[in-house]
Amino acid sequence: MKKAAFLGLGVMGYPMAGWLAKNKFDVTVYNRTLSKAQKWTDEHRGALAETPEEAVKGADLVFMCLGDDPDVAAVANAIAGAVSTGAVVVDHTTGSPALARRLHEAFTEVGAGFVDAPVSGGQAGAENGKLAIMCGGDGAHVELARPAMKAFGARIVHVGPAGHGQLCKAVNQICIAGIVQGLSEGVHFAARSGLDIEKALEAISGGAAQSWQMDNRARTMASDEFEFGFAVDWMRKDLRIALAEARENGARLPLTALVDQFYADVQAMGGGRWDTSSLIRRLTDVD
Ligand SMILES: NC(=O)c1ccc[n+]([C@@H]2O[C@H](COP(=O)([O-])OP(=O)(O)OC[C@H]3O[C@@H](n4cnc5c(N)ncnc54)[C@H](OP(=O)(O)O)[C@@H]3O)[C@@H](O)[C@H]2O)c1
Repeated sequence: MKKAAFLGLGVMGYPMAGWLAKNKFDVTVYNRTLSKAQKWTDEHRGALAETPEEAVKGADLVFMCLGDDPDVAAVANAIAGAVSTGAVVVDHTTGSPALARRLHEAFTEVGAGFVDAPVSGGQAGAENGKLAIMCGGDGAHVELARPAMKAFGARIVHVGPAGHGQLCKAVNQICIAGIVQGLSEGVHFAARSGLDIEKALEAISGGAAQSWQMDNRARTMASDEFEFGFAVDWMRKDLRIALAEARENGARLPLTALVDQFYADVQAMGGGRWDTSSLIRRLTDVD
């Protein structure tokens, strides 16, 4: 049985680690807030560690799903001296390509592999074990981690060298930003028109306007529910990464920059932890 460590039991990490345990990996979890790790071990087969260093000792595979770059850098720094030679560290956090390249070098120096492997598919994708995973790093390390990632991933693509998983995730977020604003405007317009939202969604989700956001978020947008899912604070982090990268590579992202400012409005409304579909609140709150 392969030994795996999972560091970070948030909205995403908690169910992802659960899938590893269900797929017969010998899992040790670590979470900064200990109570979440205790809850996890109450519900799953696996052990709990009180520090990241302790969690990764003897692990063949180390998974992280944390918040932002400084969080990943701090945890990576803590485990660098404790990971086994030959272990592969897989980072599922959405972070910057520059940090991914730096960590690839740092773990190579201590005889371990590093794969940047951000995910897409949201809370539901993690809970259903159906995430899309975009990997950057050495092919051999991706293949070592693939059987474990299959526990929670429906599509696992080795996109390119270190940092390319994160670059691919930036593309994912650029694509999503405009779609969520468009869907917000559509749902808002439907409500103002007095349309039956269920009937309208049933009709248009069978046509060219269909999207993951429409299937998974339009109804909760219409009923003003946002206490779940993918936090606005994290989306702003992702758009910051995409916009910074665009300044380097010369890509023009006018819509992404605009939607980033819209999300700043949602943060100012107190919605930092609301799901990203709360973009519609900018339209409805003036009513
Ligand atoms: N939610 C989604 O739909 C979604 C989808 C795709 C990608 N992502 C990305 O996946 C990552 C995790 O998202 P999430 O929604 O699971 O976030 P979350 O619920 O906020 O969880 C973040 C996790 O990271 C831990 N953490 C944060 N900073 C830390 C630090 N400095 N040291 C140790 N642990 C730290 C938190 O510990 P505590 O419990 O102690 O706070 C928590 O376990 C983010 O990068 C996000 O952008 C999220």
